[in-house]
Amino acid sequence: MKRWIKIERIPGPLASVYEKATRLVIESYYRRIAAEIGASLAAGRILDLGTGPGCLPIEIVKAFPLIRVVGVDLSPKLIRMAQRSAAQAGVADRLSFQVGNAARLRFADACFDMVISTGMLHALRDPVKVLNEIYRVLKRGGEAWIYDPAQVASQIDQDRWKALLTYRERFFLWLFTLAKLHKPLQTYTPRQVVAIIEATHFKAYRIDEGKHEIRIKLSKQ
Ligand SMILES: C[S@@+](CC[C@H](N)C(=O)[O-])C[C@H]1O[C@@H](n2cnc3c(N)ncnc32)[C@H](O)[C@@H]1O
Repeated sequence: MKRWIKIERIPGPLASVYEKATRLVIESYYRRIAAEIGASLAAGRILDLGTGPGCLPIEIVKAFPLIRVVGVDLSPKLIRMAQRSAAQAGVADRLSFQVGNAARLRFADACFDMVISTGMLHALRDPVKVLNEIYRVLKRGGEAWIYDPAQVASQIDQDRWKALLTYRERFFLWLFTLAKLHKPLQTYTPRQVVAIIEATHFKAYRIDEGKHEIRIKLSKQ
């Protein structure tokens, strides 16, 4: 079936399905990326765009107490889950989560030391607009690390994940899979990523193509 709708946010009925998947890869995926981020920024303020259930910000502040993270996502349901998980992990004082659109950020210019995002780029209607918003809110000398599509799916033990789902969640997963509504509309090739970046204010960037995800590092000079 051809996709004719571009859904940016994870649909409400699939929020808990997605959250259960991400919990299975906290150690193998998010903790590893958190360590890479912490090795590059010892202290400061990070913005996580398309934060989802907030696994990455929580791992970052757990490991690096001098870092503060703000997570933004279009989905109110995922933001509530992220807030709950941060409170359960005892790190809510170092994190905040808010509903918002990465294409229209409600932050002042140059107020973040770093911007990160895992698994959001492919879902965006207007990636150039989002990258320019990232440029605006980044401090000079700051970097944006954008990983897409997040390697999450390739690492999940599918049997373990499905065993965690309720009948209701399985039904919605089946329904959305059938309608092809929750699958990425497109993932970008490095060449397409270059074309997107060149239409933005960013002049310095590096792109690494891994087996399951493209890692884009942009610098605001
Ligand atoms: C595949 S999920 C990744 C979530 C999280 N970063 C992770 O690694 O688990 C992509 C997320 O981006 C969010 N999203 C998509 N478009 C967005 C936009 N324009 N602004 C903010 N969030 C967006 C979706 O709601 C979804 O939660």
